[in-house]
Amino acid sequence: MESSSLDIRPAELEDLDAIATIWARGWKEVHEGVVPDALLAHRQSGTLRHAAEERLGEILVAARGLEIAGFIIVHRDEVEHLYVSTGARGAGIANRLLARGEALIATCSSSAWLAVVEGNARARHFYERNGWHCRGEFLHQARVANGTVGVPTMRYEKQLR
Ligand SMILES: CC(C)(COP(=O)(O)OP(=O)(O)OC[C@H]1O[C@@H](n2cnc3c(N)ncnc32)[C@H](O)[C@@H]1OP(=O)(O)O)[C@@H](O)C(=O)NCCC(=O)NCCS
Repeated sequence: MESSSLDIRPAELEDLDAIATIWARGWKEVHEGVVPDALLAHRQSGTLRHAAEERLGEILVAARGLEIAGFIIVHRDEVEHLYVSTGARGAGIANRLLARGEALIATCSSSAWLAVVEGNARARHFYERNGWHCRGEFLHQARVANGTVGVPTMRYEKQLR
């Protein structure tokens, strides 16, 4: 997929199925067997669709026509989730989503943070290439339907302005 023809726009209800599919596949790929089992039930396609619906106002999607290639969820000053579908990776789409997410955060905060699991080498390289700095180990309280689940992660931060 060419990143040049992409539109980065706020998510709509019609995008929820695609978001949940990309999220569930990507999550499984990098988190299954690595994070506490308590998180598993909250990361199935159906529950993720519901989670995405609840966060609809916090999601930007990368869309080309009707096809959704990825999404970012920004919660206050946190880049909470960033996923690009497997076939669309390596094309600059994540760069564009992250830049738009950072710009959104910069309207209300001078810095941003995110959590990434230690072994997610691709994502860590990607964030570091985009000017993010690792601040060390961090017990991230991942938001789920009925509260939070503690997940051992690395905390990354970026000064935005
Ligand atoms: C993280 C993600 C959004 C990045 O998008 P992407 O399109 O893959 O990103 P890019 O290809 O632009 O950048 C990835 C970089 O990692 C490098 N890379 C790939 N595999 C790697 C590995 N195993 N170890 C280290 N670096 C790796 C790539 O070479 C590239 O770096 P370069 O452009 O400097 O050569 C995407 O990979 C994804 O959705 N992953 C699954 C979900 C995820 O991990 N989300 C983040 C959770 S916090």
